[in-house]
Amino acid sequence: MTSLDIDWVRAQFPAFSQASLQGQAFFENAGGSYTCQPVIDRLFRFYTERKVQPYAPYEASRLGGEEMDEARARLAAMMGVATDELSFGPSTTQNTYVLAQAVRRWLAEGEAIVVTNQDHEANSGPWRRLAEEGIEVREWQIDPEPGHLDPAALAPLLADGKVRLVCFPHCSNVVGEVNDVAAICAQAQAAGAYTCVDGVSYAPHGFVDVAALGADIYLFSAYKTYGPHQGIMVIRREIGEKLPNQGHFFNGGTLYKRFTPAGPDHAQVAASAGMADYMEALSAHHGGPASGAGAARFAHALMRDHEKVLLQPLLDYLSSKNSARLIGPANAEGRAPTVAVALNRPGEAAAADLAPHGIMAGGGDFYAVRPLTAMGVDPEPGVLRLSFTHYTHPDEVTKLIGALDKVI
Ligand SMILES: Cc1ncc(COP(=O)(O)O)c(C=O)c1O
Repeated sequence: MTSLDIDWVRAQFPAFSQASLQGQAFFENAGGSYTCQPVIDRLFRFYTERKVQPYAPYEASRLGGEEMDEARARLAAMMGVATDELSFGPSTTQNTYVLAQAVRRWLAEGEAIVVTNQDHEANSGPWRRLAEEGIEVREWQIDPEPGHLDPAALAPLLADGKVRLVCFPHCSNVVGEVNDVAAICAQAQAAGAYTCVDGVSYAPHGFVDVAALGADIYLFSAYKTYGPHQGIMVIRREIGEKLPNQGHFFNGGTLYKRFTPAGPDHAQVAASAGMADYMEALSAHHGGPASGAGAARFAHALMRDHEKVLLQPLLDYLSSKNSARLIGPANAEGRAPTVAVALNRPGEAAAADLAPHGIMAGGGDFYAVRPLTAMGVDPEPGVLRLSFTHYTHPDEVTKLIGALDKVI
């Protein structure tokens, strides 16, 4: 396998050449990633040349609408689904609230849903609130140590055949373990349940083929995936047509409009095509396919291979520290480079101490209050979180470990 051309990669992100960011190694990518140049270019072009109501029969408007359609078509193709199975909304959390309202009206008396206590609150709270309306909400619980979500523990929750929807994360934003989405979706499907997968923590490490995974709903946030501040939803046709329309009544016949009650942010939707530009360019630069799902798969493998090599030394270092409790698995193979550690002081204070060493990191609960509590970590001091992506340079990880050695 070709190795990642890290200099080329970093040249696609203007942040790395900003004078104000020199000497600053960025380790809060799970909060929000740097934006790639094609996204910035498309956003700038939309705001300067197409900032008119799109889809009208004059040139600027027609081009604006075409760029919005292009974003949906290219991202959907990369994720192995039909163009109208991909839609945009303001954020993953807001998208989930809309979906939960649809599910509330769709469930019949006596039916249930499953949520986990590994999820970020975005794929948990909106669903749990349905209990206030009489819907049975079952909790699939993690092991307290190391926060693993065991499919064997899901089986009894599905046994009576009442569950219609299983909501779970591709990867938790504090545990970091990559869940076996394909196996869990197959397990849910065999019990007659659909699945809603929070892919927010995973998507920055590679676009997945949602059809191949078998997820019925797959959610992620473009602003953590090198793009603009948008939530992206893949909603497969079967469930999308069953769930009641949440948009204007006259838009109900268009799948990608059914779960987006507000008008979309035109410029950001259009700019999201830049994420496809970037992933395709990444693949092509390294000799992979130039477009579509093949490019996504190739870029994904490149990114993950690079990340795993950088991740293992950090995990080894943190595992060896008595003053730190590493959350999640210690092996890079099955985890994303999102690494939380519980210390004997607030995570935010440790992050503040890292800043003078040129490390940008964060501390707190990261809206993962439920998983932290389940693992016996008090969300109030919370954790220090160190998260990176494929654009992180090996020297930055060395620098991070050096800084951690002084701070924790
Ligand atoms: C795993 C995970 N899911 C969901 C969200 C919520 O995403 P958004 O900010 O788009 O609502 C986040 C945000 O941090 C997250 O880390």
